[in-house]
Amino acid sequence: MMIVVIVMILKKDIITDGNPLLRQRCENVTFPLSDADEKAIQDMLKYIDMSQDEELSKKYDLQPGVGIAAPQIGILKKMFVVKAEDENGVLHHYALINPKMLSHSVQNSYLQSGEGCLSVPQIHEGFVKRHYKIKMAGYDYLQKKDVVIVAKGYISIVIQHEYDHLFGILYYDHIDKNNPLIPIEGATEI
Ligand code: NI
Repeated sequence: MMIVVIVMILKKDIITDGNPLLRQRCENVTFPLSDADEKAIQDMLKYIDMSQDEELSKKYDLQPGVGIAAPQIGILKKMFVVKAEDENGVLHHYALINPKMLSHSVQNSYLQSGEGCLSVPQIHEGFVKRHYKIKMAGYDYLQKKDVVIVAKGYISIVIQHEYDHLFGILYYDHIDKNNPLIPIEGATEI
């Protein structure tokens, strides 16, 4: 007899704003990866894949996402997954472990549509101030090697959003509470 076990992250497994775990700093992941850490990163990869599949997201009631970070499933380790297309339709797919921001542009940017988060069901309207361009190092689980990622525009914003989760920061922390919908001066609107 064959037993097929479908292991995956469901809506109930994603913790939401108000849970103190979302506000803590994550620890570095140690190598070689533990079984638990490897499972967590595979689960996150699978969630994002499934959530972007129209049929599966409907079937399993998954909120579509372009990224997810380990603390969102209650694991306080420096790991996140990003899967999104840039402005030119090029897919960027990473599973970063122990990412570290090496540098960023002085130029800022923000998403015209604002940001959202799988862990924040409440609506927080406003422009989220980000760096236009970033350079980040880390171990990419998909490529199984250390990488340096240079990203700008939309992908840069997605990466910064996930990176913030590793430090207990949520996107709306960056919204100017007094002027949430005033275009950010000097910043590139995306
Ligand atoms: Ni988020």
